[in-house]
Amino acid sequence: MHVRPSNILTCPHDGMSLAPRGDSLVCASGHSFDRAREGYVNLLPVQDKASLDPGDTKQMVAARRHFLETGAYAPIADAVSALTIALISKTTDVTILDAGCGEGYYLQALAIALSAHASPATVRLAGIDISKWAVRAAAKRNVAATWVVASNRRPPLPDASADLILCLFGFPIWSGFAAIQPPGGHVLLVDPGPNHLLELRAIIYPEVRVSNGAPTVATDAYTLVSESRHLSVAHVASPALIADLLSMTPHAHRASLAGRSALVARTHLEVTIDVTLRVFRRLEN
Ligand SMILES: C[S@@+](CC[C@H](N)C(=O)[O-])C[C@H]1O[C@@H](n2cnc3c(N)ncnc32)[C@H](O)[C@@H]1O
Ligand SMILES: [Zn+2]
Repeated sequence: MHVRPSNILTCPHDGMSLAPRGDSLVCASGHSFDRAREGYVNLLPVQDKASLDPGDTKQMVAARRHFLETGAYAPIADAVSALTIALISKTTDVTILDAGCGEGYYLQALAIALSAHASPATVRLAGIDISKWAVRAAAKRNVAATWVVASNRRPPLPDASADLILCLFGFPIWSGFAAIQPPGGHVLLVDPGPNHLLELRAIIYPEVRVSNGAPTVATDAYTLVSESRHLSVAHVASPALIADLLSMTPHAHRASLAGRSALVARTHLEVTIDVTLRVFRRLEN
């Protein structure tokens, strides 16, 4: 497959197409957005910012990058790439959005898998995240993708343009997804399964609560078409990587001081990776 950056972005103020002019992107009504040195563009309107620095912090992004680069979550990336290829195999010109792309690990893995897949199809990639730190880190990867600071509330892509939306350990906003997908388009959600990071949770909590797995989804615009579960084991080989893993999870905020101290005393850890992959199809309006 031919992998290309997604070519059309829309103005967050009026939805018009943005065209390059010098180092900026401009719409027909004159709204202008500068391209950062790293190549990404910030299209997050001030009113969509719940805080001055929304989304993952610089430290969280650095920890995620450090941990993911070990390959511990490669089985998840492989499962996402395989499912994506299966979903788009019958199409010739496809746009894929990674909604809440973080520092770009999965979209890069996908770009590599798509490029290696023998097919004349063209696949256009975009990654958005509300955290400018995440998008900046993603843009530094050598990937043929468009990287944008934006919210899932209204991804800056034209109506009916996103054939597939990936939302991995993220925050799906179904109205925002429906606005940019044609009927028949798909959303792939990846969420922690019931045993995800069980061993880590057993160290930081006095009692491990069995989670119910992936959150339920209530939306009229989509229907669930498939669900699968992927289990693997990761070896986390140093205290620094254990700390990085913790800071990627909601447990970083929930763990007590005692729980966190017990975890940092560990020199290495075997952890269960348990994720649920769910595919939803966009219905007719
Ligand atoms: C748990 S991280 C997952 C990142 C990436 N998908 C991964 O798995 O490595 C969740 C990400 O969602 C981003 N985020 C939070 N709210 C968002 C929103 N409304 N729109 C887009 N991204 C959002 C955060 O900044 C963070 O990068
Ligand atoms: Zn505009």
